Amino acid sequence: MTITEQPASLISTLPGRYYTDPAVFALEQTRVFEDMWFCAVRSSDLPTPGSFEKVQVGKESVLVVRSRDGQLRAFLNICRHRGAQICTEDSGTVKRAFQCPYHAWTYDLEGKLIAAPNLTKMPDIDRVEYGLVPVALREWLGYAWVCLAKEPPSFEEDVVGAVVERLGTVEVIDSYDVDSLSVGRRITYDVAANWKLIIENFMECYHCATIHPELTEVLPEFADGYAAQFFVGHGAEFGDDVKGFTVDGSEGFDRLPGVDEDQDRRYYAITVRPTVFVNLAPDHVIFHRMFPVSADRTIVQCDWLYTRDVVESGRDVSRSVELFHRVNQQDFAACERTQPAMSSRAYVNGGVLVPSEHHIGAFHEWLTQRLSG
Ligand code: FES
Ligand code: FE
Repeated sequence: MTITEQPASLISTLPGRYYTDPAVFALEQTRVFEDMWFCAVRSSDLPTPGSFEKVQVGKESVLVVRSRDGQLRAFLNICRHRGAQICTEDSGTVKRAFQCPYHAWTYDLEGKLIAAPNLTKMPDIDRVEYGLVPVALREWLGYAWVCLAKEPPSFEEDVVGAVVERLGTVEVIDSYDVDSLSVGRRITYDVAANWKLIIENFMECYHCATIHPELTEVLPEFADGYAAQFFVGHGAEFGDDVKGFTVDGSEGFDRLPGVDEDQDRRYYAITVRPTVFVNLAPDHVIFHRMFPVSADRTIVQCDWLYTRDVVESGRDVSRSVELFHRVNQQDFAACERTQPAMSSRAYVNGGVLVPSEHHIGAFHEWLTQRLSG
């Protein structure tokens, strides 16, 4: 990174090529998405034994499966025979087993090889050893997180730690009981921007006054550009006349059972590197998962989570969904507006961060350190 002489108020961003170069993206796939805990699926999307979802994690295709015993397991989606992809559909349910579409090697829901043409004539094959390659999996907040590293980093330090770093304590997020909530709405966004632009945007609120009229109406303190993730433990307070975290500030739902007085009428935004944002409102939680596709394309899946009561009773969630759906559209449009500049000669040495964005510098340092091995 070239740091030219610049005023103390400004620090440099990453150079433009970090957002466009396929070689940088390839390095991120192995050193970031494969080596860290990657949030893959909402556990409740795999309700019964045999439910599966296929997820791209870095360069690998991973199958997340609900096994016979009700536990979630993850495997590389690769047949141990000659390497065909076992599942080509994105999700579905198998009865008892996965059968490779090439020569019909068949694996049970625990990954063990259970059948293959002429298998009895090959008694020396160890069926566990030649089973599907397992991938580490942890469940937290109602999501399955997977890690492809040979020795996965500490989940407590990396994932839980990121939340604690932001909120000051793990009890705050525990009180929202996120794993018990139901998906009231899911919207998938196909964003023509590098995943880091989406993170950087989420980490700062300097843009809030310009592009988020509805959000700054609900959270007036966002208008000064500082509030988003700047102060440990701080939740942005609703405006005086705001009744709920909705597009027009109208009443939301009852606050979540564990949410206490201090957290009521407040919004907390949390970044869990590399691909997750958690947003806590008193009556619902908004959970973003990013799936980076290439240097200039990222799929973002956003879940709006409510109590089971709210979802099952069919109550109208549209006003609360609409608030953050607009925020998402506004944010992703801004990221897409930025992406083309990344390959411009104007951005060879990057741009600059103002003081309320300086904490993004720590993200850049973290990233470059990871990429340098
Ligand atoms: Fe799967 Fe041959 S590649 S059975
Ligand atoms: Fe924003």
